[in-house]
Amino acid sequence: MEKRISPARAITGAITLPGDKSISHRYAMISAIAEGDSRIHNYSTGADCHSTLGCVRALGIEVEVAGTEVRIKGKGLDGLRAPAADLDAGNSGSTIRMLSGILAAQPFLTRIFGDESLSRRPMQRIMRPLAEMGAEIHAREGKFPPLAIHGTRLGPIDYTLPVPSAQVKTCVLFAGLFAEGQTSVTEPVASRDHTEIALREFGAELSTGITPAGRQITLTGRPHLTGRELVAPSDLSSAAFFIVAALLVPGSQLTIRGVGLNPTRSALLDLLTAMGAKILIPKLESRNGELVGDIVVQHSELKGGTVEGALTAALIDEIPVLAVLGAATEEGLTVRDAGELRVKETDRIRTVVENLGRLGVEAEERADGMVIPGRQKFRAGEFDSFGDHRIAMAFAVAALRADGESVIEGAEAASVSFPEFWSTLARIAG
Ligand code: S3P
Repeated sequence: MEKRISPARAITGAITLPGDKSISHRYAMISAIAEGDSRIHNYSTGADCHSTLGCVRALGIEVEVAGTEVRIKGKGLDGLRAPAADLDAGNSGSTIRMLSGILAAQPFLTRIFGDESLSRRPMQRIMRPLAEMGAEIHAREGKFPPLAIHGTRLGPIDYTLPVPSAQVKTCVLFAGLFAEGQTSVTEPVASRDHTEIALREFGAELSTGITPAGRQITLTGRPHLTGRELVAPSDLSSAAFFIVAALLVPGSQLTIRGVGLNPTRSALLDLLTAMGAKILIPKLESRNGELVGDIVVQHSELKGGTVEGALTAALIDEIPVLAVLGAATEEGLTVRDAGELRVKETDRIRTVVENLGRLGVEAEERADGMVIPGRQKFRAGEFDSFGDHRIAMAFAVAALRADGESVIEGAEAASVSFPEFWSTLARIAG
């Protein structure tokens, strides 16, 4: 599918966005192994989170979906049953990596596969800790999906994450739910903590502390998890596209309501504010342990800056759209320590730099990042999503500031996290 995007005169209005992808995955998986009914409001409409629901169903759990409301009849820690067919994780790294923690503890064999992109993404990062806990996992070439997971009775571990990854942290904590005793995960670089918050909401016993090696989360195995009624906030990573659109296009003022502003996710807002962005949060509250607020953003002239170290990990999903913005800032944008971008849905260093070139924007590709000089003009062009949702949306935003009509090829990729992206964009960009 192709989308044609004309330059925008201004980005205006007030919008509410679909539920947070990270939080929706976690709520669905934990609901399945909790006892009793859970009701999730504003569940993500993205294909990824529906892949998780498909897997949960295939494991014998009743799931009802009515629009963005999802009901899951959890059967407790020992309630899953062997699936009749292989599980399909689609494009979703979160589904395969996080669910593997649960599958590794089941008294049956599960095979789980994904699409072409997911079939190229590294799985050793979850296979190692799960093997240490006692699971036997086979992967294509020892590292890629499909996975064959021979579940077993797991033992607890103390695991230090070699890569900053909330998916791996979640996988180990989920596995730890089934092990007798205490499982702990230490993260030298903090990653999003939705799992810790959600597990506490469902009744798990969890403590966190700071050690010389980093933040440590300790979980007591075999907790009693109880079904809950929960609301997923609007997804900040989806909001990021419209925040950048409003910053880029002169005359813009946009309100985004009910956005998840968990401090482990909101580094983008801090960075933009430090660059000179006019961003206000007029309303902030706590819901199911997560901070939620409204964001008001206005067109702003920005200084530019550097993304490196822990900051890179904290806004890894927002880098494609931030790269677009960087080219329009005064001093440009440098991204370092972002080797992880090369193993996302696409190699996002490659795909971003390739599309920036088509936009007439100079950018230097580095092994672990990119350098994008500032004050560059955007030329209309034909951009490719390369099948990656965040690349499709980032370059649709770039096209709003270009000098003519642009085309986004493979625009359907946006549905992986945000099927309403195109209609929302049409509404606020006139
Ligand atoms: C996610 C964690 C991040 C992120 C992904 C969602 C999560 O991946 O890129 O889109 O929900 O935990 P990693 O944990 O692999 O860095």
